[in-house]
Order: sequence, then structure tokens, then C-alpha cells
Amino acid sequence: MTTTGSKYDELIRPDRIHGSLYTDPEIFADEMAKIFYSTWVYVGHESEIAEVNDYVVKPFGPQTVIMSRAKDGSIHLLQNRCAHRANLVCEAPKGNATGFRCQYHGWTYANNGDLLGFPYKKGYEGIADKSKLGLGRVPRVESYQGFVFGCFNPDAPPLLEHLGDAAKEIDRLVRLSPNGKIQLTAGWLKHKVKANWKMLLENETDGYHPQFVHSSVFVSAESGIGALYSDTADAVSRDLGNGHTENDLRPEFRRLGNVMGWFGTTPDKVPNYIAKMREVHGDKTEEILIEGSPHLMVFPNLFIAEIQIFVIQPVAVDETVQHVTAIQLDGGEEMNRRLLQQTIGSVGPAGFLLADDSEMYERNQRGVQARDPEWLVINRGANRERVDENGKLIGYNTDEVPIRAIWRHYKSLMEK
Ligand code: FES
Ligand SMILES: [Fe+2]
Repeated sequence: MTTTGSKYDELIRPDRIHGSLYTDPEIFADEMAKIFYSTWVYVGHESEIAEVNDYVVKPFGPQTVIMSRAKDGSIHLLQNRCAHRANLVCEAPKGNATGFRCQYHGWTYANNGDLLGFPYKKGYEGIADKSKLGLGRVPRVESYQGFVFGCFNPDAPPLLEHLGDAAKEIDRLVRLSPNGKIQLTAGWLKHKVKANWKMLLENETDGYHPQFVHSSVFVSAESGIGALYSDTADAVSRDLGNGHTENDLRPEFRRLGNVMGWFGTTPDKVPNYIAKMREVHGDKTEEILIEGSPHLMVFPNLFIAEIQIFVIQPVAVDETVQHVTAIQLDGGEEMNRRLLQQTIGSVGPAGFLLADDSEMYERNQRGVQARDPEWLVINRGANRERVDENGKLIGYNTDEVPIRAIWRHYKSLMEK
């Protein structure tokens, strides 16, 4: 490979990308600086810290942060790093506490990050300013529909601007709750894979693979999902801008016209839920329950997979942890048990769906080590992509419109 122009201009072409993007530790370090510490990153959901003094420990790139609710109700994203000599201040994954005590030398912090004190204080007399020794913070914290994001970059646009049209898809998710709210309180599964995080990012809205990778589960579960990812479905893939992508299944669901078809069920199985939705949405209920839930990848780490939330945590250039939970609908009790069961069946420890994807990620990581050829081809559907009525680039559901969208945005960030 010759190197003229910028490094990333060389590695990322409109129709292909270079294999080193998945294997080079220097690029991984560069990504952490230019993506995870420069743009909005999804951290957690407000429902996980519903009560005053609740906290959860969450991944933020390779590190963890503490998402806490202080006594005034405010939400904080605190560095899980003692201001003394950098020990983790919180090991428990979640709890309810007014503060944290570092296990190493006993410094204590309030749950808003302020330093409360240190043992044997005479040794610090006149030389320690407590107000400057609180926990570090993710300086910008904003949430949308309960999804809490953090950002280290003072110059990044506000969260809503960053989300752009992805926000409308999040709206489509929460309107499935009769109370307009979702809850992420079902507990989290963690799946570790020996693969680069971008393999996962790309795969979430890759509509080309399901018919092959997931055919066994589609057949054994007699699921209609596979047909949504065929070349004859009306579903589309879409570039939502800012690296956000989706498989929009609505056109196909509308064509089929089945209420609750998106969930693989019928109205008679969940009558109370349907009745509650009718109370809130009236005549619009049918349309809402035909269109269903989004299949949306919010760049760089939040995947809304219709009935589950996935969070991508890059750990090393060849290691990623995927955190998964079932979405629960506030006021949708009749749906919630089913949401949980379907989640366990597809992405639980003995589930088929994520196990199949994980196998693909790891094989991909091994395959990409090969040199010559060292490029990956990403031009599927470039000959037939088009602009929709809202000015967004769309293609067939099996086309690589989302993958090219991700790489265009990635390149714009990495060249800064
Ligand atoms: S590292 Fe936390 S008290 Fe010393
Ligand atoms: Fe998959």
C-alpha cells in the first residue's frame, strides 16, 4: 500500500476498507481518542437509577464510569478512578449509596463526586485542597427518552443534534409503552468476543447476513424474520447521518398489515396491552402496532434491536464485550414477560442468535489477519442506492448502505 494523502483516506475508500482498521493497536488507540473521548457515547438508562442514591457502574470505552443519582435527583457520570492513586472506587455493578469509599487508602467521595475526606488527615494539612480532589467527571451528560449519554468534548454539538433522525426512531420505541417510557431493569448479560468492536458495529445493521448466519434459528423457530432480510422484501436499509444507521422494516410490515406481527404474535395473545395502547393512542394504535419497534444502531455503541438493547464496549483492538438486556415497557406488563423470554431465547446463554453472530465476529477477526488481499469489499448495492423523501440515503435491506455510512462518518472523525 502506498501512503499519499491522509492515513485514513488511504485506508477507507468508498467501495472498500483496509484490513488493518480491525487489527492495528495504534488505530484502536486513535479511535478511543477521536471517537470514544470526542463524541457522544451511550452510557446507561435513567430507569437503572430510578431512586435517589442509586448507582450503576457502566462501560465507557475500555474504562468504567459510575452513573449515579445524587440526593437532588441530578444524574452524574463519575470516573471510576480514585483521585489519590487511581484505584477503582466502585467494584459493585450497582447499588444504592450516598457515597463511595476507595478500598486502597480509604478516601471517601459523595455520590456527586465531591471528596468527603481522607484518613489520617494531618499528613495533608496545608497541602491538599479537597475541592480539587473530587472524582473526575464526564463533563457533558445529556439524556434523550431516558437514554443517558456522556461526552468529553466541549465542542461537540448538543446530544439532540448528534442524534438527528435517530431520535425519531427512539421515539418509535418508547411509544410502544402505554406510558411512553421504557425500562432497562431486566438485568444485563455480557458476551465477550475476540473481535474488533467495529465488526459488531457493522453487523448490527448488516441486512445481508441474517438469511445465512441465522437460517437455522429462523427455520427451527418458524420465524418470519428471515423473510425481512431477503432481496424481495420491502424493508430498506438507511443512512440516518452522523454514523447512525437502521434497517427500516416498516414498509414490509405495512405491506403485511399484521397488528403485533413485528413481535411474532397476534392481538388476542396480549389483549390488555392492546387495550391500554388504544386508550392512549386511539385510532393510531393499529398503525403503531403494525410498524413495531426500530432496528437502529446509534453510533458508536448503542444498538436498539427491536426488543433488546445492546451496548458495545471496545476493550482492546481484538476484544469486545457486548452488554445485552431485554427492553421492558412501562405499563406493558403483559408484554414484559414475553420480551424477557424472547430475549433469553435469542441472546441468552443458550440462545441461538447472538451465539451465531459472535462466531461470525471471531471468524472475521481471524480472517482479516491475512494479507494480500488485505481489503474488505463494502460496495454491495452502491449501484442502486437512492435518496428517500427525507433526503436520507436508502437501499435494499440486503445492501451495504449502513456499512458505507458508518465508514464515512468514522473517517470524518478520525481525520480530525
Ligand atoms: S488510591 Fe484510593 S485512597 Fe489511595
Ligand atoms: Fe446477526
